[in-house]
Amino acid sequence: MARVLVTRRLPDGGTEPLVTAGHEIIVREDDTPFSHAELCDAVRDVDAVVCLLTDPIDADVLEAGAPRLRVVANVAVGYDNVDVDAATAAGISVCNTPGVLDETTADLAFLLILAASRLASDAEGDLRNGRWAGWGINQYLGRDVHGATLGVIGYGRIGKAVARRAAGFGMQVLHHTRHDTGAPGWRADVDDLLRESDIVSLHVPLSTATTHLIDDRRLRLLRPDAVIVNTARGPVVDEEALATALEDGRIFAAGLDVFEREPEVHPRLLAAPRTVLLPHIGSASRATRTRMAQLACEGVVAVLAGDRPPNLVNA
Ligand code: GLV
Repeated sequence: MARVLVTRRLPDGGTEPLVTAGHEIIVREDDTPFSHAELCDAVRDVDAVVCLLTDPIDADVLEAGAPRLRVVANVAVGYDNVDVDAATAAGISVCNTPGVLDETTADLAFLLILAASRLASDAEGDLRNGRWAGWGINQYLGRDVHGATLGVIGYGRIGKAVARRAAGFGMQVLHHTRHDTGAPGWRADVDDLLRESDIVSLHVPLSTATTHLIDDRRLRLLRPDAVIVNTARGPVVDEEALATALEDGRIFAAGLDVFEREPEVHPRLLAAPRTVLLPHIGSASRATRTRMAQLACEGVVAVLAGDRPPNLVNA
């Protein structure tokens, strides 16, 4: 029987694979993230950690867990919060949760595409705050989603799931990845995709190469009626530059589910016009969050049994 630290309470049924395998589970009952010092303390004398994207698993944490710690499983598809190189160097396996959240996250990306394009937050805000004086023919004039060109940056599972939805809305779809997908609509250069798209949706993992991928220069390539949607990771977009583009009316609207310094939201984005903001809920359906937790735990069970799980990041 191994000892597994779960850094925060998971959805009901999430730890089932650990229970079935008979492992001892230590769960932080408080539903707030560990501080760095608490995390370093908590990983001592455990064989595995099931963590969340709010837990920075850096070299200090991994060192504190060594030599007993064998596997870190992040309940997220993105694992930019884990120092994978340090884990690999220490012989610690890292798992994530690919595949199970694609459709749920694509649904939310589409919600933001629709809500931002149709100015849903501004309109609802007016209604709720008593600023709606009655129907008007010139009110809340959005941009049409049907028939528009969608540019998908990052064409992995989630990007493709968004593209499938776009087909149902009669949209043309372009996509950018570093390597030629061979599929119609591939653009080798992000800049070309930005120039040609009406609506842009981001689906790249966060890395040094994708930090501020959308910066001031690239925002200036967008059309004045363009909409940008980010359900990937906040730092992919330079928030200062985005706030300026929205304030200046250089782009039409933005829909954001992720932020550079969560849970802080840039005050200029909070105040920006034509902006829909959500608190990082891309994968937040009951079924998907439960399945994500189970998949992370399945990775732990496999590694502890000496098997190689399909969701291993550092083979
Ligand atoms: C959520 O943001 C995830 O990476 O799964």
